[in-house]
Amino acid sequence: MTTPATSTPPSASTPAPAPRAAGGQAWRADPYALALRAGRGPLFLRRPDGWLLPLDVERWCAGTDAADESVLARCHGAVLDIGCGPGRLVAALAGRGHRALGIDVTPAAVTRTARRGGTALCRSVFDPLPGERRWDTALLIDGNIGIGGDPAALLERTADLLAPGGRLVAEAAPVEVDERCEVRLDDGRGTLGAPFPWARVGLRALLGHAEAAGWRTVRSWTLAGRPFAELAPGPRRGAAAPAPAGAAP
Ligand SMILES: C[S@@+](CC[C@H](N)C(=O)[O-])C[C@H]1O[C@@H](n2cnc3c(N)ncnc32)[C@H](O)[C@@H]1O
Repeated sequence: MTTPATSTPPSASTPAPAPRAAGGQAWRADPYALALRAGRGPLFLRRPDGWLLPLDVERWCAGTDAADESVLARCHGAVLDIGCGPGRLVAALAGRGHRALGIDVTPAAVTRTARRGGTALCRSVFDPLPGERRWDTALLIDGNIGIGGDPAALLERTADLLAPGGRLVAEAAPVEVDERCEVRLDDGRGTLGAPFPWARVGLRALLGHAEAAGWRTVRSWTLAGRPFAELAPGPRRGAAAPAPAGAAP
């Protein structure tokens, strides 16, 4: 299902494919949607061994903080926020005059983004997206480098979305970790979502995956305990011509 969040669609001409397999479907499930509607947790990612990663739903539903602002300061041109959640970054960018689109597989996230004044589509990053190869900045924030459980595949997909000269700003895990695992959403009160693949990478691992895939590190920084990297993709292999001008973004 595609849920355009506003009536100004950078998306209008793009077909509406189903979100990709397990990961997307699992995020749509009750524990996350209910937490977004309430604007608060508790909410966790649960590994099969019982380890719990708290998800900061309250922060995602609040306004931008200093660390977010350091990300926004690195945004230029048209910005695609991948896994935008309830849309604090998209809304802040729109308020500053950026062309900004959030994409998220969770309808409740798209709805909240629209309510904040942002534009968002209910779409997986692995589906066809508006403005492929023409986004100036892509964002993978709040652990979203874990989407799909394969950082290398996500980096490759993101490179396909960027315009020549485009940049990715990605947030790493606050600890030096490099893991792929299967997780479930857990509301801490007995409701578990379906299992889906996820990944966690610290800054060193993020830069390692990026470098192995031909990306260049433009800069990296840590603010309020949150590590970030600004990355430039390498030259594209067998690149097709970008879509004609005039289409979104
Ligand atoms: C860790 S949360 C990050 C929240 C978000 N960055 C924010 O500001 O609130 C991951 C987000 O990615 C979304 N997501 C998961 N898989 C996705 C996919 N394949 N494509 C797009 N979004 C996805 C989830 O629905 C969820 O909103």
